[in-house]
Amino acid sequence: MPGTHILILGGTAEARQLAAELTELTEPTELTGLTGLTGLGGFRVTTSLAGRVSQPRLPAGEVRIGGFGGPEGLARWLREQSVDAVVDATHPFAAAISAGAAYAAAAVGVPLCALRRPGWSAGPGDCWYPAASLADAAAQLPALGRRIFLTTGRLGLAAFADLGQLRFLVRSVEPPEPPLP
Ligand SMILES: NC(=O)c1ccc[n+]([C@@H]2O[C@H](COP(=O)([O-])OP(=O)(O)OC[C@H]3O[C@@H](n4cnc5c(N)ncnc54)[C@H](OP(=O)(O)O)[C@@H]3O)[C@@H](O)[C@H]2O)c1
Repeated sequence: MPGTHILILGGTAEARQLAAELTELTEPTELTGLTGLTGLGGFRVTTSLAGRVSQPRLPAGEVRIGGFGGPEGLARWLREQSVDAVVDATHPFAAAISAGAAYAAAAVGVPLCALRRPGWSAGPGDCWYPAASLADAAAQLPALGRRIFLTTGRLGLAAFADLGQLRFLVRSVEPPEPPLP
């Protein structure tokens, strides 16, 4: 078994891309600048998925599916699986797992790298209405228009359920469950 075990916390396209690139790397030194890891022979790449999607697109390398049982459970898993480095490549909305990864990596003493997609920034002609939360976004909508394309993901839909006077097109990986707008 190759020496360096990297855990990717996934569920994003970026995580799949990273897993594909890491599993293709044969020279660990190519990664030295990123992880600070040196002198180890090859990679074992494990991607962890939360299990929210019934038929996920599987990344290259090994895959485990399901929660760890909180930050302590993740720390235990890192020890048991002799993980050398963690890459948090989860979605920006997934705050709990990112906090858990920060705790667990520090507790076990392994390096943690957060792979973050850049946020959108306003360009010429854009018209943005910032919202502090989903509830705040829902409160702003009636004044902005009547036909809404909603891309919060299915877990955020309940915040819009009371807006019966608006028409929604919802984008969701899995069929959403009530309460729905
Ligand atoms: N939120 C979004 O809009 C969104 C969009 C696209 C993709 N995703 C992906 O879907 C997953 C779940 O998102 P979420 O917003 O429900 O996350 P979350 O609120 O941060 O996580 C809730 C719990 O789900 C488990 N979990 C989350 N991500 C995991 C992972 N990669 N591997 C193993 N367990 C994981 C953890 O359980 P334990 O505490 O038991 O370990 C975590 O405490 C994330 O991995 C994220 O990358 C989310």
